[in-house]
Amino acid sequence: MRYQSREVDEGRVRLVMESALTARDRVGVQDFVLLENYNSEATFIENLRRRFRENLIYTYIGSVLVSVNPYKELEIYSKQQMERYRGVSFYEISPHIYAISDNTYRAMRTERRDQCILISGESGAGKTEASKKILLYFAVTCPTNNHMVTLGDRLLQSNPVLEAFGNAKTLRNDNSSRFGKYMDIQFDFKGATMGGHILNYLLEKSRVVHQNHGERNFHIFYQLLDGGDDDLLNTLNLERNPHSYRYLVKGSCARVSSISDKNNWRVVRKALDVIGFTAEEVQKLLNIIASVLHLGNTLFGEGEEGETYIITETQLSNAAKLLGVDGSALKEALTHKKLTAKGEEMISPLNFEQAVSARDALAKAVYGRTFNWLVEKINQSLALKEEIYHSSKDASVIGLLDIYGFEVLQHNSFEQFCINYCNEKLQQLFIELTLRSEQEEYETEGIAWETVQYFDNKIICDLIEEKHKGIISILDEECLRPGETCDISFLEKLEDIVGGHPHFITHKLANGKTRRVMSREEFRLLHYAGEVNYNVNGFLDKNNDLLNRNLKEVMCQSENQILSHCFRREEVIDQKRPEMAASQFKNSLMKLMEILMSKEPSYVRCIKPNDTKQPGRFDEVLVRHQVKYLGLMENLRVRRAGFAYRRRFEAFLQRYKPLCPETWPNWNGKLADGVSALVNHLGYKPEEYKLGRSKIFIRFPKTLFATEDALEAKKPEIALTLQKSWRGYRERANYQRIRHAVIVIQSGWRGMKARRRAKRRREAAQLIRRFIKGFICRHEEYCDDNDYFLDHVRCSFLKHLRKNLPRSVLDKSWPTPPALLVEASEHLQMLHMRNMVIKYCRRVQPEWKKQMMQKVVASEIFKDQKGSYPHSVGRLFLDTRLEREQISLKVLQTLGSEKVQYGVAVIKYDRRGFKPRPRQLLLTNSFAVLVDRTKIKQRLDYAALRGVSVSSLCDGMVVLHMPWEDNKQKGDAVLHCSHVIELVTKLAMMASKTNYVNINPGCIRFGVSRTKEGIIDFVRGSELKVAKGKRGHLLVTAPQISAT
Ligand SMILES: Nc1ncnc2c1ncn2[C@@H]1O[C@H](COP(=O)(O)OP(=O)(O)OP(=O)(O)O)[C@@H](O)[C@H]1O
Ligand SMILES: [Mg+2]
Repeated sequence: MRYQSREVDEGRVRLVMESALTARDRVGVQDFVLLENYNSEATFIENLRRRFRENLIYTYIGSVLVSVNPYKELEIYSKQQMERYRGVSFYEISPHIYAISDNTYRAMRTERRDQCILISGESGAGKTEASKKILLYFAVTCPTNNHMVTLGDRLLQSNPVLEAFGNAKTLRNDNSSRFGKYMDIQFDFKGATMGGHILNYLLEKSRVVHQNHGERNFHIFYQLLDGGDDDLLNTLNLERNPHSYRYLVKGSCARVSSISDKNNWRVVRKALDVIGFTAEEVQKLLNIIASVLHLGNTLFGEGEEGETYIITETQLSNAAKLLGVDGSALKEALTHKKLTAKGEEMISPLNFEQAVSARDALAKAVYGRTFNWLVEKINQSLALKEEIYHSSKDASVIGLLDIYGFEVLQHNSFEQFCINYCNEKLQQLFIELTLRSEQEEYETEGIAWETVQYFDNKIICDLIEEKHKGIISILDEECLRPGETCDISFLEKLEDIVGGHPHFITHKLANGKTRRVMSREEFRLLHYAGEVNYNVNGFLDKNNDLLNRNLKEVMCQSENQILSHCFRREEVIDQKRPEMAASQFKNSLMKLMEILMSKEPSYVRCIKPNDTKQPGRFDEVLVRHQVKYLGLMENLRVRRAGFAYRRRFEAFLQRYKPLCPETWPNWNGKLADGVSALVNHLGYKPEEYKLGRSKIFIRFPKTLFATEDALEAKKPEIALTLQKSWRGYRERANYQRIRHAVIVIQSGWRGMKARRRAKRRREAAQLIRRFIKGFICRHEEYCDDNDYFLDHVRCSFLKHLRKNLPRSVLDKSWPTPPALLVEASEHLQMLHMRNMVIKYCRRVQPEWKKQMMQKVVASEIFKDQKGSYPHSVGRLFLDTRLEREQISLKVLQTLGSEKVQYGVAVIKYDRRGFKPRPRQLLLTNSFAVLVDRTKIKQRLDYAALRGVSVSSLCDGMVVLHMPWEDNKQKGDAVLHCSHVIELVTKLAMMASKTNYVNINPGCIRFGVSRTKEGIIDFVRGSELKVAKGKRGHLLVTAPQISAT
């Protein structure tokens, strides 16, 4: 292949690819397509053998993986191996089951199409192992969704559980799947596993009651007996020895050295927990398993009159207990059947054989339905949660089909017939999707090519399934037909209807040679995979799959929830005959085919190298047989003759268009021309490809591989371009969104502002109008026209007043009120003043109160009357002007209990001669005394006090008028005191004689003696002078004192 551009890079890719191919080709070829002699079966098998000898068990035929069972553990399934195959191109690395898995996963993600992996091959070829490897690969390598951390575990753990209940040792395989399994794994758009779903197909129930020689019952029975602890077995009334149970020893190999039932039991128990079975459910499940064993040991005896009875009562009661049903009802149902004749119910006893088959039918039904319940339960645990499902419409699915392989036993019965029919269908699908469709496609696309002959097994499928004429239809008819029918009559019917079919032979129809190897009860089908003789014995019963009605009724009443779920009451009531087993199987296969057809298939074709399960043994005859019937040679021939890869033009162009400048980013012309331009640019040689009508066909995988590599190399560049344009687009869209939002917000905001402003203006205009009108009518009565204005005037005055209230009691200012508020203003002023006064009074201390009271009294006496009064207002009255130490102790003792309340130094003037003498004047509560140092000179009782005289000027003269009648008082006292206002106030208050104070403007008269009167004259002068004046008066010159 030659590229026109980037030759160096491309050359390197090619080199790497080619060297890898050579390295891989060292042991045979790893893709049969590369075989020189691809028409030779011997070369084909030799290639398989050489690779098998080197433990290279996987080989491709194009995209189909051929796998040979190694029968030994190989070191090729580690996590590192998984990593090796992750995201790597299919052809780049040696063939592996992981490569198929990864390829399928990537196809699902890139093409967004559901995929399926079909694993086929005969029993023991390794299908189940392959499916487990695929599942493990997905569980380990796929990203896990947060919700689904445990899902991977559950998916994996569903295997040991299903295998325990659905697999058994057969002659072909120690772990043979006795049911078909199709599993869907759901992935979200990020490729994380989201859920799973299992469909199960026809379990081989007959194994529960019978096994061929060398075979076993289902694993779970042996696992329970070997692994279950003593307590568990006790509760189930079981013995550890499997030989004690008739259902387990039919094949005479209850113990197999290659199987560790004990270990497997542990695995199964753990798996049940992981999947989410509750302890109660597990117990119920095991009860059922144990009950089957007890049923198997339930034996019947035959009475003299042919009646049947049960001889192992204990076994029966154990079974009944574990099944959760009434013992006697079960006993009755096992030995009798209910018939309805002419609307009447009748009970008729069963004979010995009928009772045995009723018991076996019950065991099979119980086990079979429990198996279905198990699958249902596992599905619930794997189910996509509803909310996740709805949030992920982009989910894709990978289906995994592991179904029982084609098998030929010594005695083949109904089960083998179904199993082999299923394999025919799968082969048919394979032919449909690979061989026929491939060739048809070349034809429709107009590609010249040489037709490859292959065997189309449709003819066999038709023989089995055709309506009315097919074996299944004949079998159903024979079951339903009234009258005496039996297996032999079925065989005869077959001979009648399909006797001439080239793939059908019976003893009667066969030639002599064949006759010798066939019994009279057998018919032979020439399957795609070989000839199989089927013994018709039991066909009708198995197809009928009938359980006596009274047994069903008993089971419906079971207290075991699993059984009551499995045996529905409606089933007993419903008179309609259920679908026959073979038809049921046929229909479920049809549905399966539909499912598979809707998906993109990948194939794993498993081959069994020998019949003895030995590692390293390659039985050429056996392998050749399988290669033949699996159609591998035809597959290879079609591959070689045809093209490895095909794609619709649009898909091819869509995927690879970045590799060519002409087609990138978009091709607008005809699709075929675009593809042409692209492949020319890539340098495809003419023999490497062909263009059909709607598809391109690429002959060699190598060509595609190189194109894929070139795309891989180009991807970072494309990613960058995409990123750039996406970011640009996102930012632009973001910017536009923000801009639009800004404009919307701005216009909204501006509109709102404008509306507000207009509203304010409107209101203001109305207000002004009202105001003016109010002003005009302000002198009218309060009415609608002026109420606003007048209220405003009031309000403004009150507001103004609030701010300009006088702050102290002395502040007499008050705002001038408008005319209509004069009265209110006066009230307010008064209230305010009161308020201030109250507040002021509350604040006054007792000391200050006393001072104030004295000052008030002083004010009452002297205000506006005496010149020295204003001067005294600002000075505090003291409690006393004489300290205690200044008063003689003797005087104080003389005064005794009378306490001195006030003391002041005074000058006493004699009444005659006016000689000045310094004295102390002490006031007590009831009298005053004049003290000359230590001696009380005069006592003046307040009660006797006639009056107190002072001048109106600023002198300190005071005369205390005493009555002459009382000698004790010694007459009037003429005194001078520097604190005359304070003295007189205190004296007047103590004596309670404030009214007795006289203020004389010019002179004071006083009594010198009882009859004689003295006068003190007062004149204003510059300074205080007290001297004897003319006419014997005392002349006092009083200075002028300013009020401050
Ligand atoms: N890849 C493998 N590596 C090792 N051993 C394998 C491998 N594949 C299969 N085996 C062995 O072969 C045995 C049978 O394989 P498996 O059970 O997968 O067969 P099958 O095709 O599913 O048969 P059936 O149709 O009976 O179910 C396994 O138990 C295992 O021992
Ligand atoms: Mg299997």
